[in-house]
Amino acid sequence: MTSSTTKEEQKVHQPPHTVADEGSDKGDKAKVKAIVSYWGVDPPKISKQDGTPWRWNCFRPWETYSADISIDVKKHHFPANFMDKFAYSTVQALKFPTYMFFQRRHMCHAMLLETVAAVPGMVGGMLLHCKSLRRFEHSGGWIKALLEEAENERMHLMTLIELSNPKWYERALVFAVQGVFFNAYFLAYLASPKLAHRIVGYLEEEAVNSYTEFLVDIEKGIFENSPAPAIAIDYWRLPADSTLKDVITVIRADEAHHRDLNHFASDIQCQGHELKDYPAPIGYH
Ligand SMILES: [Fe+2]
Ligand SMILES: [Fe+2]
Repeated sequence: MTSSTTKEEQKVHQPPHTVADEGSDKGDKAKVKAIVSYWGVDPPKISKQDGTPWRWNCFRPWETYSADISIDVKKHHFPANFMDKFAYSTVQALKFPTYMFFQRRHMCHAMLLETVAAVPGMVGGMLLHCKSLRRFEHSGGWIKALLEEAENERMHLMTLIELSNPKWYERALVFAVQGVFFNAYFLAYLASPKLAHRIVGYLEEEAVNSYTEFLVDIEKGIFENSPAPAIAIDYWRLPADSTLKDVITVIRADEAHHRDLNHFASDIQCQGHELKDYPAPIGYH
């Protein structure tokens, strides 16, 4: 499915949705009321290439992509200076308790880490957006690149949630961690964007490693290689008979892309340049 074909897939004809209006004065009888379409324009009816209806409102066919699974999943940025060593040690210190806590519970581990991984792109993108407005200058595409990363991470979470159901205390943990991590990353990005990007680069290296361990356990049969959820098949344009192993493989490729993007962003600034002077790697998705 390519962007050139997706426009052909859109056909504009669909009746307005209807819902029960439970707020009527008469109270006892729900009335069915039509929702007025956006400025009188009916929403487009979108189909897949095989003619079946597109079932996702959260993303559309032109936002789907094939992950580059040829990307090097073993690449490591050697911590050369003090800042790199600080970033690397911070990530290693954060990694240790999470590995102890989750051990081989890969699905739970991945799901909870994705709730954290989707934060830095949004925070960095938001701060670069505000900087662009304040300084009346272009961003070099970095706002878009970071927001794409955040959205991609959130889609990882939306995929994993199809395969696992978080318990109440895991939801509470996510709530607390988000409160701390969002603010900590916000302050870190304000203080030193190059350090913030380096930390994310190393976090992404660890994400690649933990998805590699997940794949090894699937191959060994320790973890069941269940069928891929429908959302993953559509988002990554996977074959209909894809399995969890295929899904984890494409997610790992995404993480490797985030790793390279964030190390690149840090390198640019470490060499005394501004992000806007180097075009961001957008359009990966
Ligand atoms: Fe992710
Ligand atoms: Fe990532």
